[in-house]
Amino acid sequence: MSFYVTTPIYYVNAAPHLGHAYTSIAADVLARHHRMRGEETFFLTGVDEHGEPVTLAAAAAGVSPQELVDANAERFRALTGMLELSNDFFIRTTDADHKRLVAEFLQRVYDNGHVYEGFYEGWYCPRCADFKTESEIGPGNSCPIHLIELVRERERTWFFRLSAFQERLERLYAERPDFVMPVHAFNEVRSFVAQGLVDISLTRQALSWGVAVPWAPDHTFYVWFDALLNYVTALGYARPGESLERLWPAQLQLIGKDISKFHAIYWPALLMAGGMEPPCQLFVHGFLLGPDEAKMSKSRGNVLDPFSIIESHGADALRHYLFREVTFGQDGPVSQEGFQARYDAELANEYGNLASRTLNMLGRYCDGRVPAVATDERLRAQFAGLFARVDELLARAEISAALEEIWQHVRRLNRYVEENAPWALARDPAARERLTEVLASLAEGLRAVTVALLPYMPLRTAVLLDALGAGEHTERTFGASGWGRPVSAIAPLFPRSA
Ligand code: MSP
Repeated sequence: MSFYVTTPIYYVNAAPHLGHAYTSIAADVLARHHRMRGEETFFLTGVDEHGEPVTLAAAAAGVSPQELVDANAERFRALTGMLELSNDFFIRTTDADHKRLVAEFLQRVYDNGHVYEGFYEGWYCPRCADFKTESEIGPGNSCPIHLIELVRERERTWFFRLSAFQERLERLYAERPDFVMPVHAFNEVRSFVAQGLVDISLTRQALSWGVAVPWAPDHTFYVWFDALLNYVTALGYARPGESLERLWPAQLQLIGKDISKFHAIYWPALLMAGGMEPPCQLFVHGFLLGPDEAKMSKSRGNVLDPFSIIESHGADALRHYLFREVTFGQDGPVSQEGFQARYDAELANEYGNLASRTLNMLGRYCDGRVPAVATDERLRAQFAGLFARVDELLARAEISAALEEIWQHVRRLNRYVEENAPWALARDPAARERLTEVLASLAEGLRAVTVALLPYMPLRTAVLLDALGAGEHTERTFGASGWGRPVSAIAPLFPRSA
């Protein structure tokens, strides 16, 4: 069983922001979860370096496109480290191997008869790098995403015969009701296709910053085709011995809702044209909004800086916040104040405090060992379905719902401490047996929620599992349990903010 998960590749026209971090963390949570289940996992992310978004930004900065992409690609790569992403490869579309494989793939599409020469005239958003259809144009010929005026493009081009794939796409959607999740995103895609597909530009003559077209060297490939193909080209050179057959079709491709047309329509059509299978599933998530409820973006100046949050509170805290605050799949606002409130209430207090209390009591009352006694039957029953439920939710990429499920168990453990008041039991020699049962149950419950939280907060959970004396392998996987192991004290996991 293999699990191949991807993020979009991000434009390097500016520095990375929280929106980029968001999709990447989501993919990382899923990749870590599937690895923990013992599946052969491949997690791909990277950057999109060609096309107008980059050319325009380079011109504005007075540097060459290559200089701009080299500098900014490193900032995106640095973010993957800071976010603790476990990606197996970081693709750059300026990689020589990627460019070679794009040209090969699109030559095949040409040889298969899906390309013809023509003249394009229409409205274009240089920031989206998108040829807009009538239904996608905002008031006053504007881009509804970037709120800038669209440009009238008139140029000779080689068209990709997208219209010829209308029926095959409709059949794909009908046969695979979970091809695009959530359903509301799928419905939008289907109604767009139902309006009738038109052929789209595959090449650009006006733009030299891109992959040269083998049959028309004065053209470069339209940046979206070059970019989409990263998901298959990467498998051709990411690591020695890797094969497309082993990992393609990808199980899951995560995207934001701004790019569903490209991924749910152009992408499967392009793959079919090249003789390949479409991916198994696309998951379309919503936007992180600024406190002003507008899409977070640099041009609107409403961004929450991931770098500064990580510096002050660590990557785990940011990862936890994003999926607690905004239900994955929907839009929602995030803010510095919101972050602070959740950090204090949930991480410092509910979880961090539970961890310190449990370890301290094990130290004080049980000689620093998890007592080798049976656990509380009632608590055990309440934890029995946790792993299965998390598994089931994450299989559908319901990252927030799975985290909520885990968090309910963190809260259950806090109530268990209050209900049983181990410090009071400790004062009564006749209650010794109950005390050991309560503390063994707490240790086991804490281990279980911490294992379930591993994919979300890989750093602090590892510290806590060490302190809990969890064994290297089995006790860090779903379901396993261990008794009689020594525990150790630790500094607060999530120190209270000053
Ligand atoms: N380069 C293209 C994608 C090519 S994929 C073959 C692109 N890049 S982008 O830099 O604009 O990033 C787009 C992705 O970043 C979105 O689809 C989404 O995953 C993420 N986000 C950017 N801003 C976002 C928010 N404000 N909120 C959530 N995610 C956002 O489009």
